[in-house]
Amino acid sequence: MVWRERDRGMGGPEAAGGPADGLYGLPAAAFALRLQEAATLDELGALARGCTRCGLRGGCRGVVFGEGDPRAGLCLIGEGPGATEDEQGRPFVGKAGELLDRILAAAGFRRDQVYISNVVLCRPPGNRTPEPAEIAACRPYLLRRLQLLRPSILVLLGATPLHAMVDPRASIGAERGRWRRQDGLWVLPTYHPAYLLRAPERKKEVWEDFQMIRELHRRLFGWPSEEAAAAREAPAGPAGAPDEGG
Ligand code: URA
Repeated sequence: MVWRERDRGMGGPEAAGGPADGLYGLPAAAFALRLQEAATLDELGALARGCTRCGLRGGCRGVVFGEGDPRAGLCLIGEGPGATEDEQGRPFVGKAGELLDRILAAAGFRRDQVYISNVVLCRPPGNRTPEPAEIAACRPYLLRRLQLLRPSILVLLGATPLHAMVDPRASIGAERGRWRRQDGLWVLPTYHPAYLLRAPERKKEVWEDFQMIRELHRRLFGWPSEEAAAAREAPAGPAGAPDEGG
């Protein structure tokens, strides 16, 4: 997907053809209520594209809303778009995204069979971690997205989605690989692929997490089988996991 011209500008709601700015100045609870009126992902995406609730929109090319199968049972949430994602308007298409694709493939999923999005929809400058106020501003979109998607399994990639969805004080090291049941979802925090690029020795743990994800998905939906996962493994092995991981 490439950005349509009107999505590129720095403009606020008027420039993006969105609703009046008053909407975006609403306190979080009122804004979350207003988002209930977005009945589809497209409607929610249109509101997000006009959003001025935090300063990030002014410094990025466009809103990276998310992509994948909207009826997928499995949804993955990252931190926020990086430079490549901002350029292409798609989540996880840079180096970390390539690794995520390989991890998914090794577990038997094609990227278009899951839904992928981020806690914040606009790129933080210099790829810094989004600030708590930016996460809070974007959180109503995340919650409404999940209400519309209704996945059964939610994978939190790294500390930022863990903080946004579970507990702002939780430690990813402590929570990684531990399932929790939350609002009818099976939620699993695991390490972010960008972290794995810096710390490849942790790939094995993520590989184990994705084995569990595949197993739960298979129990809930009947696929993917182990054979399908094996057949889709990248030639170089399962996401660079050690041999015993595959
Ligand atoms: N990192 C993220 O958290 N999300 C992306 O979309 C890309 C990199």
